[in-house]
Amino acid sequence: MDAYDVILQKRDTRAYAATPLPEDAVRRILQAGRMAGSAKALEPVRAVAIRDGAQLAAFAACGNFTPHVPGAALAVALVLVPEEGMPLGEFAQWRGPFDAGRAAQNMMLAAWELGIASCPFTVHKGDAARAVLGLPPGHIVINAVAFGYADPAARDPMRGQRPRMALESYVHWERW
Ligand SMILES: Cc1cc2nc3c(=O)[nH]c(=O)nc-3n(C[C@H](O)[C@H](O)[C@H](O)COP(=O)(O)O)c2cc1C
Repeated sequence: MDAYDVILQKRDTRAYAATPLPEDAVRRILQAGRMAGSAKALEPVRAVAIRDGAQLAAFAACGNFTPHVPGAALAVALVLVPEEGMPLGEFAQWRGPFDAGRAAQNMMLAAWELGIASCPFTVHKGDAARAVLGLPPGHIVINAVAFGYADPAARDPMRGQRPRMALESYVHWERW
């Protein structure tokens, strides 16, 4: 599958087989995240990779729409290390989410190419997540992704149900 096919075909998947991911696949996914560029090349993003079942369940409880997460083979929390001298609010608003999003998408596309499905999830309870992950002060979980082989036998009613708008609606040329 070439990169463009991976981009077009990838669909968020919320039902996973109880099959662990091979170690080299996990490393490849994490490497893909590490290679994402960042504003000023500051590399403010870190990954917390979770495979332990109890830790997956505890982390899942930090989001409001996460029933798929405890059954994942891997969850990756994208954590922002605060930029020195920059107010956290400004950093979190302007730079960090874009950098973390690039890393998350890299990971999901690299996984899909290996036949591994994924779905991002929002971590609504930031303080709880900080405690579950044992983050140092000032570090924030910006988003997270669940990974696993898709369970062909399971009902995954949301999969592939959200077509994208037409290119003509999406793109404005030169000015809005
Ligand atoms: C920032 C972000 C947060 C998301 N949070 C959740 C979530 O908490 N729970 C969930 O099931 N899906 C979550 N999603 C997945 C979206 O619902 C998904 O991208 C959407 O269904 C369209 O993808 P699809 O066409 O592959 O289904 C999130 C996606 C993004 C980009």
